[in-house]
Amino acid sequence: MPVSIREAGRQDLDRIDRIEAESFDADRFARRNLSRMLAGGRTRFLLAEAAEGLGGYIAVSFRNGSHIARIYSLAVAPGARRQGVAEALLDAAGAFAAKRNCRALRLEVRASNRPAVKLYEGRGFRLHDKRIAYYEDGETALVLEASVEGFSRTVIPEQDTP
Ligand SMILES: CC(C)(COP(=O)(O)OP(=O)(O)OC[C@H]1O[C@@H](n2cnc3c(N)ncnc32)[C@H](O)[C@@H]1OP(=O)(O)O)[C@@H](O)C(=O)NCCC(=O)NCCS
Repeated sequence: MPVSIREAGRQDLDRIDRIEAESFDADRFARRNLSRMLAGGRTRFLLAEAAEGLGGYIAVSFRNGSHIARIYSLAVAPGARRQGVAEALLDAAGAFAAKRNCRALRLEVRASNRPAVKLYEGRGFRLHDKRIAYYEDGETALVLEASVEGFSRTVIPEQDTP
């Protein structure tokens, strides 16, 4: 089944919060922060429906004057994994960023997170930098970057935000 993706809004808080809870032991968004971010602002959320499970989401952050869009978070609920949902979300994030005149996507990932590193490398992300002791437990973050050129130009229906 093709993955269907749309922009998320406040009404999706419970679902995104559950995907987070099922996906991360640490480095989680607090629910109140999620709620604030979903109300609109510089971080936008895209939500994917999968054939099974809660699907997944990606959070992309934009900064005025920057041509780099930052992938702030990406998670796919365990029941929806290995169906291409994360790849579809990355594609959508690339298209979303290109529409906002960004030239690249950048993100931080734990060096030990093999599934995620493999996913990103497969979608053309390359090592840009390393941040030693970036995470609370002292683990190093790999900073990966990809040009938006390689991503599809899928148009994502946007959420009306106040
Ligand atoms: C990492 C994550 C987002 C992948 O989501 P997904 O929807 O299962 O990924 P996809 O189905 O799109 O996988 C695409 C490719 O990524 C790689 N990949 C994904 N999961 C993998 C795993 N568990 N082991 C090895 N490679 C993996 C594979 O190359 C895969 O292609 P293939 O299925 O043809 O082999 C998901 O496992 C997750 O939410 N993990 C917990 C949260 C997390 O770590 N987020 C990233 C933080 S930076």
